[in-house]
Amino acid sequence: MVPRVQEQLPIAVLVSGTGTNLQALLETVHGHEAQVVAVASSVADAPALARAAARGVPTGVFPRVQYQDRKTRDRAMADWLQERGARLVVLAGYMELLGEDFLARFPGAVINVHPSLLPAFPGLEAIGQALAYGVKVFGVTVHFVDAGVDSGPVILQRAVELQHARDPEEVLAALRPLEHALLPQAIRLFAQGALSVDAENPRRVVLDG
Ligand code: GRF
Repeated sequence: MVPRVQEQLPIAVLVSGTGTNLQALLETVHGHEAQVVAVASSVADAPALARAAARGVPTGVFPRVQYQDRKTRDRAMADWLQERGARLVVLAGYMELLGEDFLARFPGAVINVHPSLLPAFPGLEAIGQALAYGVKVFGVTVHFVDAGVDSGPVILQRAVELQHARDPEEVLAALRPLEHALLPQAIRLFAQGALSVDAENPRRVVLDG
């Protein structure tokens, strides 16, 4: 009997920095439920690029300054990701906004990980915003990306209680393991076709099974 080979979802990962989330994906879903077929960076010397190269994953660099405008950059990047066969785009520390044109190239198939319990503290310095507000519960959100800032439908969230936190590094250290678990989990669900949107409320992502 021929064993059933599970189809691997081709995914692209967009990065701008350290790449610990990319590393988590390379160590979990890559080669299993998914295949990372491309890593694109907005920053030429992002350490994340070396992590991709170390696993033989093709990398591309698309700095905004090398293009006439954001739209032109987004088009070049979308072209490259589609040439590589990506069917899901994962933002893992990608520090730029993506325009409607880019999102239309991957409809319903762009996800992001953000270090707060959205809709609290969207945008930059989410952990700093949360500390400044004085919250006692922090957390991580994986969500679909729309044209707003961290405003798309929530896929997964996980919280951690830190009653005495003062230092962003301490909060980041507590959130890292959550991010590194939730992002692969969301990709597995997407790859299984287990994510759908509630017909009556398109903000509500339904997890099948
Ligand atoms: C993570 O905290 C993620 O939530 C945010 O950017 C950071 C990226 O970290 N969007 P890394 O580059 O994956 O280490």
